[in-house]
Amino acid sequence: MADRYLSFTGTAPGRFLTRRLGLPQPAALVRWSPERPALAGGLRHLTAGTSGLDLPPVLARTGIGPAGSDRAAAVVLDATGVRDVEGLAEVHAALHPVVRSIAASGRVVVLGAPLDPADHHQAAAQQALEGFTRSLGKEIGRGRTVNLVRLTDASAAESTLRFLLSPKSAYVSGQVIEVGPPQETTTPVDWARPLTGRTALVTGAARGIGEAVAETLAREGARVVVLDVPQAGQDARRVADRLGGTALLLDITAADAGARIAEALPDGLDLLIHNAGITRDRRLVNMPAERWISVLEVNLASVLRTTDALLKAGTLKRGGSIVATASIAGLAGNAGQTNYGASKAGVVGLVRSLAPRALAEHGVTVNAVAPGFIETKMTAAIPLFIREAGRRMNSLAQGGLPVDVAETTAWLAHPASGAVNGQIVRVCGQSLLGA
Ligand SMILES: NC(=O)c1ccc[n+]([C@@H]2O[C@H](COP(=O)([O-])OP(=O)(O)OC[C@H]3O[C@@H](n4cnc5c(N)ncnc54)[C@H](O)[C@@H]3O)[C@@H](O)[C@H]2O)c1
Repeated sequence: MADRYLSFTGTAPGRFLTRRLGLPQPAALVRWSPERPALAGGLRHLTAGTSGLDLPPVLARTGIGPAGSDRAAAVVLDATGVRDVEGLAEVHAALHPVVRSIAASGRVVVLGAPLDPADHHQAAAQQALEGFTRSLGKEIGRGRTVNLVRLTDASAAESTLRFLLSPKSAYVSGQVIEVGPPQETTTPVDWARPLTGRTALVTGAARGIGEAVAETLAREGARVVVLDVPQAGQDARRVADRLGGTALLLDITAADAGARIAEALPDGLDLLIHNAGITRDRRLVNMPAERWISVLEVNLASVLRTTDALLKAGTLKRGGSIVATASIAGLAGNAGQTNYGASKAGVVGLVRSLAPRALAEHGVTVNAVAPGFIETKMTAAIPLFIREAGRRMNSLAQGGLPVDVAETTAWLAHPASGAVNGQIVRVCGQSLLGA
């Protein structure tokens, strides 16, 4: 369903009228394409406090040149050395003079340090960066995004910085991402096609977000297996054929789904993308048990079962990744979605608990994407007024596209993202719902 309001505000009369009426002014976001692989403009590197990060070589490798006196397309503020309220004054001093000149669809990336449990002044100052980031994200406008990365080592965060400083992260804003210590990578990373030689299984990939994920992972070099229910077989085969992959037709809720996936992939699997999901909305007072059970089965129980089965069978290879799909409804709750909200919150719990163990025992990272309002058949079915509210109630004042979730998934599945583990990354344009 096309966003006609966004098209209208892109015209001169539309801009004039919406400004006069004080209506939301969404900017057309700049997304990745082969013709436009990088942000247009330079990067400004600022520092607050005394940083111990070796950032310049990593920033140099992102491919964005330094911004001269002209508009910056991106600003990176290294605030890892901020330890107290005086340090926060340096955050203001660094960004206040430049924020106005950041280009439309530009990026602000704030770098912070982990909170020090032994120093409440440092913890207060570093937590302050979170409120700062989220507030700036809400006011900066013009399609610009603001995110906070907590890190201790710049090279471990290279894939994350490349993602956030590129058009691939167009709909990711107001997020706090923690990057852990560097992880061993066995092979040198091919930044152009980083998933070459890897096999990815995407559940629910016959259409919607899953189709976009399969397409993006294939673009990055992966061999994709398009899993969907037999009823969606025609679409699943069409997607698989287009991407040079294979279709695997099975209902993910089947008790033996894990075993059948393992059997279909005798050479193993590198990337397991749990995307299949359903909604069966009703308020709890009107919700029959079947609706509750079916949503929890598809969205949560099957994710738990297949993850366990594929880890146990050794199908998931070391160096691989699991990316599950949560939702902002699982973080903030949503009327009429007690079943869906419960299932998606369950996914968050699964990720947080399993991530450290899966990395230690299997060498596999576990993360989740939490989409907000994404333009798909699922959201096109929402009644007009609720749909319009869902679209506009975020800092970018528009819905995201399936490719926004796909690009975020590709970053989490990147072989250089081994230090990103246990994260729930919202792809929601900084939705006003939830934290
Ligand atoms: N669209 C949004 O705005 C939005 C927001 C938040 C979260 N999500 C989540 O993103 C994921 C994809 O959403 P979408 O909008 O693309 O949905 P969609 O309905 O367009 O596609 C879902 C796909 O999953 C498949 N599927 C459903 N049950 C299955 C099963 N038992 N076994 C195998 N395949 C099954 C369907 O056949 C379909 O192809 C879901 O997990 C959804 O909950 C979507």
